[in-house]
Amino acid sequence: MENTVNLNSVNLVNADSLQFIKTLPESSVDLIATDPPYYRVKACKWDNQWKSEEHYLSWLDELLSEFWRVLKPSGSLYMFCGSRLAADTELLVRNRFDVLSHIVWTKPHGPWMRQNKESLRAFFPATERIIFAAHYAGPYKPQSNEWSETRNLLKQNVFSPLISYFRVARESLGVSSKAINEATGTSMASHWFSGSQWQLPGEKHYKQLQCLFEKIAAEKQRVSLLERGHSSLVDNWQILDRNYRDLLKEYDYLRRPFSVTAKVPYTDVWTYAPVAFYPGKHPCEKPAEMMEHIIQTSSRPGDLVADFFMGSGATLKAAIKHGRRALGVELERERFEQTLAEINT
Ligand SMILES: C[S@@+](CC[C@H](N)C(=O)[O-])C[C@H]1O[C@@H](n2cnc3c(N)ncnc32)[C@H](O)[C@@H]1O
Repeated sequence: MENTVNLNSVNLVNADSLQFIKTLPESSVDLIATDPPYYRVKACKWDNQWKSEEHYLSWLDELLSEFWRVLKPSGSLYMFCGSRLAADTELLVRNRFDVLSHIVWTKPHGPWMRQNKESLRAFFPATERIIFAAHYAGPYKPQSNEWSETRNLLKQNVFSPLISYFRVARESLGVSSKAINEATGTSMASHWFSGSQWQLPGEKHYKQLQCLFEKIAAEKQRVSLLERGHSSLVDNWQILDRNYRDLLKEYDYLRRPFSVTAKVPYTDVWTYAPVAFYPGKHPCEKPAEMMEHIIQTSSRPGDLVADFFMGSGATLKAAIKHGRRALGVELERERFEQTLAEINT
């Protein structure tokens, strides 16, 4: 490994990515958006490093195992691939990650327009693919509603002192839902006296509940446990609610970021024009707008975004522009130096 350059929150490395990634700690990267060689698509030396497709795929698999190790549990992977090996690549990713989308990147123009159509013997491959995956592997995949269920359990846990105050008062006198609803003219018994949808009654309804409970307690020659004043319950509720909001903030932060709107590509078909030629252009340079879309959808400001096949640095330039930390690895010295100079200026 050579020429590690630290630029505060930007770290660019001239190295072989597989060797370099092994030096990174586990669970250290928030987003990997990377575009490895597609294998024998370009005439460049870097796209012809493997003696067979089998060797290429086994190298890719080793790389994916390292991606899994360094990605945080809430992290995301965007793995570019060509249409020819897209199925093989997706299967490799699926063995280690939770594949969420197979994105098709179409281009409004490209070499397919210049083809002699009549000489084709199969459909011309005009798209590139992006496998989008979350960190979790198959058997440990969270259920789709697990997030909201956990938030609900958290709420029940935090508010349990108040939830049990109401529950115990009701159980001790055996007050029915019908009696509660009739006395208050509502159908709120299941909200005030259960855990899953619990709510604190307002003052008027609480006083009606106290009257009902006192009447039933007198009939049964018992005491009503609904004896606290409403304002003391509200004080208690405000403290618990603050705790609940703090915990939710922490909990939500651990969730994999993902945010799209109607103004950005939110389906799995993306259309972006390829980067126009300019002297020094990387043959596989990805459109800045597309990389910004990935960064903004799947990371937060301050997150660490890594591209282990940096090329022109399109991923990292987008990451830096949006206030993310950036880690890039590039094998070829000349390209590395060009990208380093561009990012440094
Ligand atoms: C498909 S291109 C990436 C282009 C990049 N997405 C962009 O927008 O410019 C792959 C890049 O990975 C580099 N590369 C190939 N093998 C590598 C390896 N083993 N380690 C690090 N970089 C490698 C190549 O030199 C090339 O620049």
